[in-house]
Amino acid sequence: SIAPVTVTVTGASGQIAYGMLFRIAAGEMLGADVPIKLRLLEIPAAVSAAEGVAMELEDGAFPLLSSIDITDDPDVAFSGANVGMLVGARPRSKGMERADLLSANGAIFTAHGKAINNNAASDVKVLVVGNPANTNALIAMNNAPDVPDTRFSALTRLDHNRAIAQVVKKTGVRASSVRKVSVWGNHSATQYPDLSHATVAGEPALAVINDRDWVENDFIPTVQVRGTAIIAARGSSSAASAASASIDHVRDWVIGTAEDDWVSMAVCSDGSYGVPEGLISSFPVTCADGEFTIVPDLAIDDFSRERIDLSVSELEQERAAVRELGFV
Ligand code: NAI
Repeated sequence: SIAPVTVTVTGASGQIAYGMLFRIAAGEMLGADVPIKLRLLEIPAAVSAAEGVAMELEDGAFPLLSSIDITDDPDVAFSGANVGMLVGARPRSKGMERADLLSANGAIFTAHGKAINNNAASDVKVLVVGNPANTNALIAMNNAPDVPDTRFSALTRLDHNRAIAQVVKKTGVRASSVRKVSVWGNHSATQYPDLSHATVAGEPALAVINDRDWVENDFIPTVQVRGTAIIAARGSSSAASAASASIDHVRDWVIGTAEDDWVSMAVCSDGSYGVPEGLISSFPVTCADGEFTIVPDLAIDDFSRERIDLSVSELEQERAAVRELGFV
């Protein structure tokens, strides 16, 4: 029989976790034959709500779900974790300054990084979803010196999927026919969704679309501000789509990306494409055998260069701010 995989989800009482946990338990993330041990981490005030979520998970009678543990102690939550999905974060409340937000999240991701360093399984893989996701991942990574930097990532798969969705709407093809979309930089409004190397039904996407004005003035800004548009329409932030993208992210990292395609993940830069080493920035990546590789040798034109640099400079500013606060 296959050994169970321990999956730790933080922010387990929140909206995204609610969309995520049932699909993990159903085997949609790690495979239909892999037993799952769930560890749910919450703040003390939300432990009771997590117990309610666990009751519902029990009631799913998922054959693969071998155990559920609920805790408010990060050391317990990450003990033996093979996969860490760091969703819990401090949202910006009314009147909160940016520095306060960075401090609150810096403290959370420092604690979680240390707990991962000291307790997780030697093969742990970490996905940070909680915002500011790239910089929170940077903080966790820097507080886990014994874990290789390549085990830390932040979620830009939602942006990647949003980019595919816009191309689907424009061209009428199915989502599976849109390949090699790239998202570069920060998970923020400065991100650069890039169709330069994308294909639609095997043909160059930009040629199929044949509408530069749409790419520059519709596609790019629509993807960049999609999160805000969903808040405006739904009255709360995108949760089910974020959960779905998180499952896509971990599944492809563990199981591998399809032949003739790639995905976007925010990972620790090795200096590729002029992104300063050590920043957690989104790149097009392929995955095989549980490891990602930044897609090499893509031609970057002046238009793309300018947009990548803009988003990366925002990441550098965020890093400088959390450095000043002593988190990295
Ligand atoms: P939510 O507010 O419904 O849930 C967050 C949960 O985290 C709460 O239950 C809270 O008690 C918990 N939490 C706070 N501090 C914690 C800690 N130290 N340890 C454990 N749990 C803690 O929020 P939602 O909608 O689930 O979103 C979660 C995060 O994901 C937010 O930061 C949001 O901005 C971010 N997000 C990221 C996206 C991405 O693409 N990277 C997309 C959408 C949301």
